[in-house]
Amino acid sequence: MSILIERSFDKSIFQNLLLRAREVQQQAYAPYSAFPVGAAIIADNNEIFAGSNVENSSYGLTICAERNALTSMIASDRKNIPLAIAIVGRPGEPCYPCGACIQVLCEFNPSMLVVLEKGETLEIRTLEEYLPFRFKLDR
Ligand code: THU
Repeated sequence: MSILIERSFDKSIFQNLLLRAREVQQQAYAPYSAFPVGAAIIADNNEIFAGSNVENSSYGLTICAERNALTSMIASDRKNIPLAIAIVGRPGEPCYPCGACIQVLCEFNPSMLVVLEKGETLEIRTLEEYLPFRFKLDR
């Protein structure tokens, strides 16, 4: 398993991102799964954008925390580049992003770091490590 720790990042940034993800997890709307998720993205302008999952009675319309965080970042300034995303689900267990979210997040920066909690440690790798053969549209 490849764990990537970016030297250019201060580790406290990851802890801060995780903290923000935990905060926004409190706002999750997850009455169907009872699985609240929080995500926080740090953009290249150092701003943090957060999102939680928002479920729907028509289950397939649920939006994951990661995509809600991303759309909030883009809505703030579509030139923002996401550098890292922290995702939290159950305490201490890594909450891996789903395939749909990885594809969507890759659109804006496949090199972004995914920061997950694993017990007392952090599990960090790039997005593209999760989905190296994703769909790409050649225009
Ligand atoms: N979920 C997320 O928000 N992000 C993930 O990375 C995985 C799953 C949500 C979708 C649904 O509301 C709940 O978690 C259970 O699948």
